[in-house]
Amino acid sequence: MPSRRTIETAVALACRAPSLYNSQPWRWVLGSQDLSLFSDPDRILPATDAFGRQMVLSCGAALNHLRYAFASLRWTSVIDRLPHSQGRQCLATIGLAPAQDVSDTDDRMATAITRRRTERLPMDPPGRWDQTFAQVTELAAQSGTHLEDIGEHGRPALEAMSRRLSGLRRADPVYQAELRWWAGHSLYPEGIPAEALPAARHRTVAVEREFPPGNVTSDTGNEDDRAAILLLSTPSDSRLDWVRCGEALSAVLLACTDRGLATCTVTHLTESGAVRTALRELSDGDGLPQVLVRVGRSTRPAPTTAVSRRPLSEILFRE
Ligand SMILES: Cc1cc2nc3c(=O)[nH]c(=O)nc-3n(C[C@H](O)[C@H](O)[C@H](O)COP(=O)(O)O)c2cc1C
Repeated sequence: MPSRRTIETAVALACRAPSLYNSQPWRWVLGSQDLSLFSDPDRILPATDAFGRQMVLSCGAALNHLRYAFASLRWTSVIDRLPHSQGRQCLATIGLAPAQDVSDTDDRMATAITRRRTERLPMDPPGRWDQTFAQVTELAAQSGTHLEDIGEHGRPALEAMSRRLSGLRRADPVYQAELRWWAGHSLYPEGIPAEALPAARHRTVAVEREFPPGNVTSDTGNEDDRAAILLLSTPSDSRLDWVRCGEALSAVLLACTDRGLATCTVTHLTESGAVRTALRELSDGDGLPQVLVRVGRSTRPAPTTAVSRRPLSEILFRE
């Protein structure tokens, strides 16, 4: 096994992964032979994610971040997903072996982990998109996930669905209470601080979730979102699909970051059964829609500070 310090470094990098409302619903347990990843059901968001689908997706993203982090530290991860012996909350055990050789890509992806931020302002279109799209489609496929670009033909329908759903949710006090508990302030190293949310004077991007107003502004005055809109879908809706889709999400976000692009994960549209069905009809595949990702060029300088994460003492334990 790697030294304690190496493990702590890799787990800290893995926890830079995105998660629903920055809830960080994961726990890592270090054994003598391997490291295990558990979902933390105390961090489920009942009004937004009643079945824990996005909790598991978030953990899947952390799992792929961990693999890149260990690779950059010269360790190869051998991942066993949903091992039967460890109970329902155990999503993976990770065995580790010294790496024979390390690719330049692993190093670049680990660097992208520290640079990636969720960008919620409108974006300009991504440059050299064909190359990037081919790369991220291949990365998603490696995790058994279908990826497609639905921005061009689907944007008007997506915007209409999003407006309708946002209207319904404005009138849902339970959803609003949960959202406001997690977003718009920074009392704890979790949730989404005002520094990561668009200021009130910006119109919410039409396909984006409506958050309480924050402090983020852009001087360009550009309110038209021209980002590509990607949809990640899975063959079925099993826990394994969710873990693997989370891994695909991590790979897609980091590859785009590595290419200098801004990204935003968007999931409110897949939280409503009816909207999810409509999304499925918009899609060219027959998979189950899980996550949308906006990808484009940011219209402001990259934020220097990252959104906080919980300390290792709260998420990494010895067996
Ligand atoms: C499963 C999942 C769902 C998410 N849904 C949304 C969303 O609907 N809208 C949004 O702006 N961000 C969404 N995010 C991004 C998180 O809010 C973000 O990762 C978290 O606040 C941490 O910030 P960071 O990504 O800048 O590190 C989602 C992330 C995940 C993994």
